[in-house]
Amino acid sequence: MSIAIKRLCITGTPGVGKTTISLKIAKIMGAKYIDLGKLVIKQGWISGYDHARRSFIVSDEIAGKLKLYLTKFEKYVIDTHYCELVPSECIDMVVVLRLRPDVLFERLSMRGYSSKKVCENTLAEVLDSCLISAIEAHGRDRVIEVDTTGKSVDCIVEEVLKLVSKRERRIGVVNWLQEIDYEFLLKLERGLQGP
Ligand SMILES: Nc1ncnc2c1ncn2[C@@H]1O[C@H](COP(=O)(O)OP(=O)(O)O)[C@@H](O)[C@H]1O
Ligand SMILES: [Mg+2]
Repeated sequence: MSIAIKRLCITGTPGVGKTTISLKIAKIMGAKYIDLGKLVIKQGWISGYDHARRSFIVSDEIAGKLKLYLTKFEKYVIDTHYCELVPSECIDMVVVLRLRPDVLFERLSMRGYSSKKVCENTLAEVLDSCLISAIEAHGRDRVIEVDTTGKSVDCIVEEVLKLVSKRERRIGVVNWLQEIDYEFLLKLERGLQGP
């Protein structure tokens, strides 16, 4: 399959499959795979550490630094939970991977995340957080949303490549609030109070 798109960003809530899918797509495209979180730490593009969130605080200068770094590559796939950190002029399309919240909940629990972190991330998926960030940062014309629920990795890769090669923008494919029950939402809300 020939893909005209050379600069792709793959985003979504932690656990949806960004790294698994991005690695395969980068290989097929013959593109550089970039894990943005790891790159930021390796390059020292950080201004501090947030102890409460147990994560680094990204430097204000990241946009310029990343833009310069990306000029080294003709083709790349950026794997990130924070697509808004990538300057819009550096990417052609953003793929937002989605996963039904109850499935995501199980996957994140298996990862050994704290119950609070599992609930925070699952609620972010329920509320379309990554989709909203992608649209806000890069415009709805460049966003492709893909529901990965119940699909094999190969099937998702094929679907993403097909949509990307056609430059087919597609948003609004899921509505998790319609699919999950009230008890599950209450469990998530209670989980936010935990340690
Ligand atoms: N389509 C899929 N079906 C089943 N399991 C998957 C699928 N995609 C990814 N996984 C698994 O889900 C977990 C999270 O995937 P990963 O790619 O690390 O997600 P992310 O990078 O978004 O946090 C991994 O254990 C991975 O093997
Ligand atoms: Mg990952």
